[in-house]
Amino acid sequence: MIEVIKSVDDLARQKWDVLVPTMGALHIGHKTLIELAKKEGERVIVSIFVNPLQFENKEDLINYPKSLDSDINLAEAAGASALFIPSEDVIYPGDIEKIPAGVFGDIYEGSSRTEHFSGVLTVVKRLFDLVKPKVAVFGEKDFQQLFLIKQMVTQLKIPVQIISAPTIRDNAGLAVSSRNIKLGSDGEKKAQVIHRALTKQTFEQMQKEISSEPGFKLDYLEVIDENSFEKAKTDTQNKRVIIAGWVNQIRLIDNMPMGNK
Ligand code: PAF
Repeated sequence: MIEVIKSVDDLARQKWDVLVPTMGALHIGHKTLIELAKKEGERVIVSIFVNPLQFENKEDLINYPKSLDSDINLAEAAGASALFIPSEDVIYPGDIEKIPAGVFGDIYEGSSRTEHFSGVLTVVKRLFDLVKPKVAVFGEKDFQQLFLIKQMVTQLKIPVQIISAPTIRDNAGLAVSSRNIKLGSDGEKKAQVIHRALTKQTFEQMQKEISSEPGFKLDYLEVIDENSFEKAKTDTQNKRVIIAGWVNQIRLIDNMPMGNK
């Protein structure tokens, strides 16, 4: 039976090779993160903490999906040794230094949610400090988050290696997310335009594809340099397309290396 750890003392009694930070509501995307973690080290711990600091909207925080029993089963089946499920006062005991996200935290996903990435970095740093993993695994679906975490690790010289796992998609290419259930089958159909657009070869073709689906309300579509997160130039080596928008008021994000089929 997988161990469920709640206190810092119980956490500190053992050594952890790999951390997979999550907010619960685990799905097949998380399963692949845990399976990848298992390849990096024997002792894998999955944290589940719905981090209030990264939610601008209190209602989103309250309504964040919870499925603890199935989370425990999924983490165990995927090979995790333990789950770390701390309460808020374990993560934030009194005053905690907030980590600023810098200029790349204020654009794209950060432009309308000013404190979001600072909240993400603050909790991730806190989890690294408590768990002290050698390796931590994050999904590529939240590409800006991944970039900012890597940047923080470099800037603060945190002794952890960041590994990323490619996005898991359904048969129609829709990136797996805990939000997808809210879409319904009609919403899912509309959301499939994202993958159709991301797999086009030019930016103009992508824009055209997006505008062919009136049910998708675009927030941003951009080609960035995946190493610097700056807008890509003609000679950029590793270009990545990032996109966000809404289907039936559900916000969806995705990304792909440019020119992927
Ligand atoms: O990607 C997530 O689930 C969260 O942002 C993370 C990294 C667990 C921090 O709360």
